Amino acid sequence: MSNGKEKLPEHVCIIMDGNGRWALAHGLKRNDGHRQGAEAVRAVTEYAAELGIAYLSLFAFSEENWGRPKQETEALMTLILEYIRKETPNLMKNNIRCVFLGDRNNLSSGVVERMDACMETTGNNTGMTLIIFVNYSGKWDVLQAVNRLLETTPTPELPLSYESFSGYLTTVGIPDPDLMIRTSGEIRISNFMLWQMAYTELYFTSVLWPDFRKPDFEAALKAYNNRKRRFGKIEESN
Ligand code: IPE
Ligand code: IPE
Ligand code: MG
Repeated sequence: MSNGKEKLPEHVCIIMDGNGRWALAHGLKRNDGHRQGAEAVRAVTEYAAELGIAYLSLFAFSEENWGRPKQETEALMTLILEYIRKETPNLMKNNIRCVFLGDRNNLSSGVVERMDACMETTGNNTGMTLIIFVNYSGKWDVLQAVNRLLETTPTPELPLSYESFSGYLTTVGIPDPDLMIRTSGEIRISNFMLWQMAYTELYFTSVLWPDFRKPDFEAALKAYNNRKRRFGKIEESN
C-alpha cells in the first residue's frame, strides 16, 4: 500500500463491536463471539505494533455494558482475565506496554490485581502502548477529572486551560486519538473518549469485530490517509 506518502496515525482507537451478531450468524452463543473477538484483538495488536503505531486503544467493556445479563458480564470479565494471562508473554515478545483504563470501583479484586500485574510487567517496554478500556465511559472520565481536581486542589488556579484539565483525565500523557474505528455498522460513539475525540477522524465499517483482520485495518488506514484534517482552519494550498 505504500507510495511513501502515507502518514501513520499516532493513536488509533477501536470500538470493537459486533461479537454478538457474529455469534448469531454462526449459530453460536454470544459468549463464543466474545471469545472469537479476542483473536481479532491479538491479530490487530500485533499488526499495529509491527506498523509502528505508537498508541492503540481498545474499548473492551463499557460502563453501560453492566446492563447485560450477569452470565454475559461474568464471561466478559473471565475473558479479560484469560486474555491477560495468555497475552502477557506476547506483549513482552512484541515490546508492547499495556495500560488498563476505566473505573476500577465495580471490578473484582482479581481483575484489578491482574491488570496491575500486567501493567507492571510490561511497564518498561518501549514499543507500542496498548490501552485497554475496561468499565470505561467518556462521561465518567470527565466527571472523575472534575472530582479529582476539586479533591486534590480545592483552590485551583482559574480559569483552567484545556491542558491543565486534560491532566486530570485518565488518559493523561496519551495524545488524543487521530483515528477511531468502529466495527459492526453502528454509527455512534457509545460514550467512548468524548473529550479526547473532539477532532478524531471517524471510520465506520460493517465488518463484525471477530472478523476484523489486517486487510480491514489497512482499509481504515487508507481511508485516514485520504482525509484532510483541517482543525477548523483552511487548507494551506488554497
Ligand atoms: C462488542 O460486541 C463487545 C462488547 C460490547 C463487550 P457486542 O457484544 O456488543 O456485539 P453485538 O453488538 O451484540 O453484535
Ligand atoms: C460499545 O459497544 C462498547 C464496547 C465496544 C465495549 P456496545 O455494543 O455496548 O454499544 P451500543 O450499545 O451498541 O451503543
Ligand atoms: Mg454491540
